[in-house]
Amino acid sequence: MILITGATGNLGKATINSLLNKGISANNIAALVRDESKSAEFKSKGIQVRIGDYQNFESLKSAFQDVDKLLLISSSSEIAHRFEQHKNVINAARETGVSHIIYTSFDMKDLRRSIMVGDVQYHADTSDYLKQIAVHYTLMDNTLYADMIPIISGNNILDEGISIPAGNGKTPFLPITEMAEAIAVVLTTPGHENKEYVIAADAAFSFAEIADLLSDILGKRVTYYQPEVDSYIARLVQNGFPEDDSAYLARFGEAIARGEFDTNKSDVKQLLGRSPISLKDFLRSIYGK
Ligand SMILES: NC(=O)c1ccc[n+]([C@@H]2O[C@H](COP(=O)([O-])OP(=O)(O)OC[C@H]3O[C@@H](n4cnc5c(N)ncnc54)[C@H](OP(=O)(O)O)[C@@H]3O)[C@@H](O)[C@H]2O)c1
Repeated sequence: MILITGATGNLGKATINSLLNKGISANNIAALVRDESKSAEFKSKGIQVRIGDYQNFESLKSAFQDVDKLLLISSSSEIAHRFEQHKNVINAARETGVSHIIYTSFDMKDLRRSIMVGDVQYHADTSDYLKQIAVHYTLMDNTLYADMIPIISGNNILDEGISIPAGNGKTPFLPITEMAEAIAVVLTTPGHENKEYVIAADAAFSFAEIADLLSDILGKRVTYYQPEVDSYIARLVQNGFPEDDSAYLARFGEAIARGEFDTNKSDVKQLLGRSPISLKDFLRSIYGK
C-alpha cells in the first residue's frame, strides 16, 4: 500500500493522478486527509481515505496501518510547526512498520545559509531526522514550482510586464505535474532507498529570460521590471495576499536574485526516462492564445 500525505493539495493530487496513470490500482493507494469533507473525489475513484492530522500523532498511527511506502509532502501549516509535524509523521510511520518514507524537501544551494533560512530550515531538519532513523528514505529536493511564476510575477504580465525584485538570478522552475511524475517513479520502481534526488529542470531561467520566452510565445514585447521590495509587497497585499505571505514571496525574489536556486543539478531526466516539459511549453500552456 502506498500512502500519500497532503493528498488534497496540488502536489498530492498530481502524484495520485500519476500513480493511477501508471496503472497502479486505486485500492493500492491511500490518501491522508485531515478534513473528511475533502475526500469524495478519492472515494469515487476507489482510493482508500485515511483520516489524520500531522499535528495528531495517534491519528497518524491509525492512518498508517498496512502502509508500505509513504510520501510525506511537506506541511503547509505555519512554518514554526512544520518540523514537529514532520517528526510526528516519521515517528508514526516507523512505529507502524512503514518500510520506505519519501520526503519532498527543497532544492537550494544551502538551506541553512539561505537568506530564507527561517522559512526553509525545517526541510534540512526533516531531511537530517529522516537520515537518522532506521527506515529507508528518499529525499526529493524540489525546486520552485513553475506554477509559482504567475503568482510571483504580477497579475497582469501580458499588459504590464513581469514585476518581481529577482535581479538576474536563475531558477530551474519545474511544473508540479513533472515533480509528481518523478515522485510516482520513485514510489513504484526499485532502487531508490537512501538516495537524494534533485527535482528541477535541466536549464535555469532568469525573469529577463522568462520575459523573452513570453515575448516569443505572445508575439509582443513582455518587459521585466524590478520593483523595490516594499512596493512589491504592497502590490501583493493590494491583490489580496496577507501581509506575511507577501513578505514571504518577496524573500523568494531576494533568494532568486542571489542565485540560491541555481544549483545546476537535476535527476529528473534520469527518473522520468525523458526530458521534462520545457519552461517555454509550460508557459505556452498557461499564457498562450
Ligand atoms: N517548491 C515549491 O515551489 C513550493 C511552493 C509552495 C509550497 N511548497 C511546499 O510543498 C508542499 C506541497 O505543495 P502544494 O502546492 O501541494 O501545497 P498545498 O496545495 O497547499 O497542499 C498542502 C497539503 O498539506 C496538507 N496539510 C497541511 N497541514 C496539514 C496537517 N497539519 N495535517 C495533515 N495535512 C496537512 C493540506 O491539507 P488541507 O487540504 O486540509 O489544507 C494539503 O493537502 C507545501 O505544503 C509546501 O510545504 C513548495
